[in-house]
Amino acid sequence: MKKEKIKDLYKKKIKEFKHHNLLYFNKNNPKISDADFDQLKIEILDLEKKYKYLKSKDSPSKILGSKPSKNFKKVFHKVPMLSLSNAFSEEDLLNFEKRIINYIDETKDFRIEYSAEPKIDGISASLIYKNCKFERGLSRGDGSEGEDITENLKTITDIPHQINSKDFPHEIDIRGEVFIQNSDFKKLENKFANPRNAASGSLRQKNPDDTKKIPLKFIAYTFGFEKGLKVNTQKSFLEKLRDWGFKINPLNKTIIGVKNLMDNYHSIEKIRNDIDFDIDGIVYKINDFKLQKRLGYVANAPRWAIAHKFSANNGISKILDIDIQIGRTGALTPVAKIKPINIGGVVVSNATLHNEDEINRKDIRIGDTVLVERAGDVIPHIISVDFKKRNIKSKKFLFPTKCPSCGSKTIKEFNYVTKKKDAVRRCSSEGYECKKIAIEKIKHFVSKDAFNIDGFGKKIVENFWKLNLIKLPQDIFYLDFEKIKKLEGWGRQSVSNIKYSIDNSKNISFERFIYALGIRHIGFENAKLLSKHLKSPQNFFALSKLDDFTELLNIDGIGETQIKSLKNFFSNKINVKVLDDLIKILSIKNVTKSRDNGLLKNKTFMLTGKLNGMSRAEAKSLIEKNSGSIISNVSNKLDYLIIGDKPTKRKVDAAKEFNVKILNQNELQNMLNKRS
Ligand code: IVH
Repeated sequence: MKKEKIKDLYKKKIKEFKHHNLLYFNKNNPKISDADFDQLKIEILDLEKKYKYLKSKDSPSKILGSKPSKNFKKVFHKVPMLSLSNAFSEEDLLNFEKRIINYIDETKDFRIEYSAEPKIDGISASLIYKNCKFERGLSRGDGSEGEDITENLKTITDIPHQINSKDFPHEIDIRGEVFIQNSDFKKLENKFANPRNAASGSLRQKNPDDTKKIPLKFIAYTFGFEKGLKVNTQKSFLEKLRDWGFKINPLNKTIIGVKNLMDNYHSIEKIRNDIDFDIDGIVYKINDFKLQKRLGYVANAPRWAIAHKFSANNGISKILDIDIQIGRTGALTPVAKIKPINIGGVVVSNATLHNEDEINRKDIRIGDTVLVERAGDVIPHIISVDFKKRNIKSKKFLFPTKCPSCGSKTIKEFNYVTKKKDAVRRCSSEGYECKKIAIEKIKHFVSKDAFNIDGFGKKIVENFWKLNLIKLPQDIFYLDFEKIKKLEGWGRQSVSNIKYSIDNSKNISFERFIYALGIRHIGFENAKLLSKHLKSPQNFFALSKLDDFTELLNIDGIGETQIKSLKNFFSNKINVKVLDDLIKILSIKNVTKSRDNGLLKNKTFMLTGKLNGMSRAEAKSLIEKNSGSIISNVSNKLDYLIIGDKPTKRKVDAAKEFNVKILNQNELQNMLNKRS
């Protein structure tokens, strides 16, 4: 072949590779299989090997090895990027305000001022400034660890590279939303379904020059870590942002009272379609930073903010069938397969029916015409049945009394707290013995908050199960990658990606590990409590040899329900085997006492009676912030019983018996050196 022809062929292949690489790394929609993609790379590399004069900056030899998950460097956020809880109605807002008022123990007429900020539907980003210079920009990632997308963010003209204001903090992480305006989106000749995807795709380009091609905007609204920020309210922070040269949402307002929040919500909803950027609700934040600090956080969202989503969309459809899905805890969830309808731009073909009681209460039957609602990110559900349109021959839906997966009896448990039978019917088999439960357990095991195995999606779990590659969680760590390489849709690159993710996941924190086991009633918060108390996986494993779990009742937050569930878990031989195998293969980080140097270090507390000007939850969080721990039983392990108004006599008597120090609220405040 002539040199020119070879060069042309090479160029053509590089162009093709560049195109597919973009599709692949963008994660939008790869157009060729992984195997073909790998083949293309091999052909280019072969040509380069044979003809030394062939060179290109876009060659896979230059960018090979940067797997999608490693496309950008991962960096921990100094302060995690949290999410917001949602409100859909005025009632939700009233409850939100009530919860706040209860927490700070104020009366109903306490006036709370909010910063109401229309919620732009884009991609959040964190911009770290040091000595007035934009130093590093991160994506949200999983909230605790983001990707370094500095170079891409630098192409956005709304993001200042240098701040020339005297009062700009020494160090600050400015956070906000990257988005694309609707008018700009329309002008783009692109393959993205909506502006949000376009913003996300372009922000994750490997080459910042590609990011630059799309006119991205940035609006700032909050901050993470800071040193030297001197403002007391969100309103004044937003004003400062503007002074410093950031764009802020022009529709932000400060508002007092739920009624006024509702008025503002309705007027913004009316103009929603006329605004040049997509908004999906309004974020309300308590304006006063001191009050925000007092309220703190619950799980991974602040207590002081909420996102009020725009009203639900709904539509009429027909139930074609009712499927029964089996969850990780054995719960049987009925799902209506409906005639596909478009609700607010999304095609809906499934709607949850929640549980057996819900079907009976609404008398939902196959063939019915129904009103379907899709609100925010919540799974669509059926609001009502149009009985006038019902076929007279239709029959009541009979809920299965046998598990459709393993044939075991299905049962409704008695709930000792509500003193009623559960609304949910469950498969009575124990965990991994039921195929569907086992698959769901493994899906949970690999999920984001658990082992977070990148690229190990639900479909892969199902497929590997079918192929007998995994039956129990530990099988993931013994996968035969040579075998996987030969499967359809898999190539060298994708196999090496997944292998990398699995290896990475072997280093895991103790709390994530407990959570990953998917024990009923042990969600992330309870897993955290257990890990803190037990300290090591060996101590956790030792529970399998115990008959009496009552010691765990000392953990504030762990009750009879959790104890019962843990006992159940450890009484199952397969569970114990799974646990034993996993502990042997993994490197589970024991809980080390970190930054536990507060005033109440190594001291245990119990609260009884009503405190003044502070809810129980706030007192608990205050004690914990100062390194004390709360226990929920009076025993010789208890150091202090804090008594408020009308304490439980039984607890006070028991405390006296065990010689526990009894303190009132003032004495506790003195110990704490007052709230900061
Ligand atoms: S504050 C803990 N303010 O909403 C505070 N978020 O579900 C959380 N968002 O990931 C962020 N507009 O992407 C905040 N004015 C605003 C916002 C906003 C949009 C997004 C953001 C975040 C998500 C929270």
